[in-house]
Amino acid sequence: MPRPTAVHDSLVLEPRDVHFDWSELPLHWIPDEPMATHTINVLHLLLPEGERWFVQVFKDALPYITDEQLREEVLGFIGQEAIHAEAHQEVLDHLLGQGLDPRPYVRQVSWLFHRILGERPGLSATRRRESITERVAYVAAIEHFTAFLGNWALNSPGLDRAEAHPTMLDLLRWHGAEEVEHRSVAYDLMVHLDPGYWRRIRGMALSGPLLTHLWVRGVRFLLAADPTLDGRLRPTWRQAQQIARRGMLPEPARMVRSALRYLRPGYHPTQEGSSSQAIGYLATSPAARAAALHQAAPEHRESPGNG
Ligand SMILES: [Fe+2]
Ligand SMILES: [Fe+2]
Repeated sequence: MPRPTAVHDSLVLEPRDVHFDWSELPLHWIPDEPMATHTINVLHLLLPEGERWFVQVFKDALPYITDEQLREEVLGFIGQEAIHAEAHQEVLDHLLGQGLDPRPYVRQVSWLFHRILGERPGLSATRRRESITERVAYVAAIEHFTAFLGNWALNSPGLDRAEAHPTMLDLLRWHGAEEVEHRSVAYDLMVHLDPGYWRRIRGMALSGPLLTHLWVRGVRFLLAADPTLDGRLRPTWRQAQQIARRGMLPEPARMVRSALRYLRPGYHPTQEGSSSQAIGYLATSPAARAAALHQAAPEHRESPGNG
């Protein structure tokens, strides 16, 4: 099958084996901003299970790929997402050590990805391929949001102004940059397996509302579970919008407009975000630089600095 689109970056996706030191991370890593902190913390609740699920879906899709370059990109994507999942898992472990137990929420997320969106045993070959293609379409729509959020993280001076903790900023921007870097892969895989427009629409029709629901529940959960807040802080849309106007969260209306762009017939992920900005950040990210040094000279593991 020919490549699905002429608008395509030629990618060599490199998994960067990053490590972060969370020992100094305060519970509210945006100082005095628990709502902004926990709204972003929902990423840590969703991504370890979610990105492990991406990895499984893409491994299941490998036998159906007939384009060598796309296969290489899918393998690079799998390598990057596997490291993302583990990096966010370490933050969850740190939250638990600070008295905020994320496990009840994570158990629900795990159930969703394994029981509802997981592989169904006993399918015929045709139905199995269809089921995998459908899940790839869900991943492609979610990857539209991760690229949007990654692009936002790379262009979010409000977080610097609010003096967000530098190690968390590096995690968000390293991960965000890799999301921008590999933003086409899931979409191109979906189109390779099924070029039909309705597949793309169905992917967004499920993933958009599901992500919104999980995010709202996640913010409520974290604010209720935060041992320093005693359940006093109840999130509202109005608060979220005020925080977004101060640059600490993406504007909800911009996210909605971005989701609508995904539905345009001529859409391709390369139209969103900048690969050169992403690669530029990865060249300066403390964690990515330490990983590159370690890969060049494995006996010298340097931990990334906090700046
Ligand atoms: Fe990721
Ligand atoms: Fe991704």
